[in-house]
Amino acid sequence: MKKVLSVVGARPNFMKIAPIDRAFKKYSDRVEHIIVHTGQHYDRKMSDTFFEDLELPDPKYFLGVGSGTHAQQTAKIILEFEKVLEIEKPDLMIVVGDVNSTLACSITAVKLGIPTAHIEGGLRSLDRTMPEEINRLVTDSISSYCFITELSAKINLLKENFNPDNIFFTGNTMIDSLYFALPKAEESQIKSILGVEDKKYALITMHRPSNVDEKDQLGSLLDAMVEMSKKIEVVFPMHPRTRKNLELFGLEEKVNIEGIKIIEPLGYINFLALMRSACFVLTDSGGIQEETTVLNIPCITMRTSTERPVTIEIGTNTLIQPNYESIISTFNKIMSGNYRNGKIPQYWDGHAAERIVDVICKNIFKFEF
Ligand code: UD1
Repeated sequence: MKKVLSVVGARPNFMKIAPIDRAFKKYSDRVEHIIVHTGQHYDRKMSDTFFEDLELPDPKYFLGVGSGTHAQQTAKIILEFEKVLEIEKPDLMIVVGDVNSTLACSITAVKLGIPTAHIEGGLRSLDRTMPEEINRLVTDSISSYCFITELSAKINLLKENFNPDNIFFTGNTMIDSLYFALPKAEESQIKSILGVEDKKYALITMHRPSNVDEKDQLGSLLDAMVEMSKKIEVVFPMHPRTRKNLELFGLEEKVNIEGIKIIEPLGYINFLALMRSACFVLTDSGGIQEETTVLNIPCITMRTSTERPVTIEIGTNTLIQPNYESIISTFNKIMSGNYRNGKIPQYWDGHAAERIVDVICKNIFKFEF
């Protein structure tokens, strides 16, 4: 019996691991799959709801590390995760994405001689001021295997001398979750609860430190939302980091107006329901750029770079400078009906996790069939 241990920590990790857990069921007589939750995200709305929505089983270990500076958070995860690895001694560890838990757990495993597979490896924004870029670079450089979502990742990894035999183009497990949850999203009541109609609202998310940690920057992005709300209803599920800063900077009044609905972070299914019927999405997220591409919903990404270029090249994503003028000029383009349709990237078909688990069993564990 082989043992595989997968790590989740923050909100964007849950949808990437849920389909992997389901795919391992096919090999349940030969592989034990264990989930560890670091507790980087801990609020019910940032974590528990996702386990329910995605039918992800409870983690065997919850490390409860919580918030802190990057050093504190990373250090706490390393200390706690090492204890788990010493008990479980897995044959392979899986990390996903680019959050602090990804970096902390991969370093811990590699130092104990445990091979690591990075799902969503190889993505690069080339912006080293983003904490996620550092997490991606370090995790890939010490991982034994990278499973990639788009071909740009292969080019990046080869430039960094990653062994080409250990790069597997298997697709996007986050999109597996999207297809899994779409029928449930159709049943969601969130639009009637909020009183919004299909295609008559803009959906906004924003939490990057570079957009929300400084008063002037946050203020000017909020001004753009106020301007948009004169022409279209705005729904804004607010990340805890953004809400904390909004209160700290005394900016609540600015957006406390009729056309803007600021709500708590939503669970996966309700958010998906809002995304698929939105007129467009304005965001600084990573994953939402990919989800809107699959849903064929225009996405405006308020960032100076993206690590997911395929969403721009063939998807529905447009990268804009995160400032008032750029947001409003792209907004006007969308409102005049001049926005392109996108295509769905290769292997974003709902079966990425099955391909990944097949590679693990056949190529890495060398099971005979
Ligand atoms: C993290 C990831 C980011 C990802 C985002 C998705 C890193 C470096 N960043 O950013 O890549 O896009 O998650 O949400 O790993 N907080 C709560 N409740 C929670 C979690 C956080 O109130 O359940 C608040 C805390 O005040 C905390 C702050 O949000 O200090 C930031 O949380 P943290 O996990 O440090 O980073 P995120 O901004 O969420």
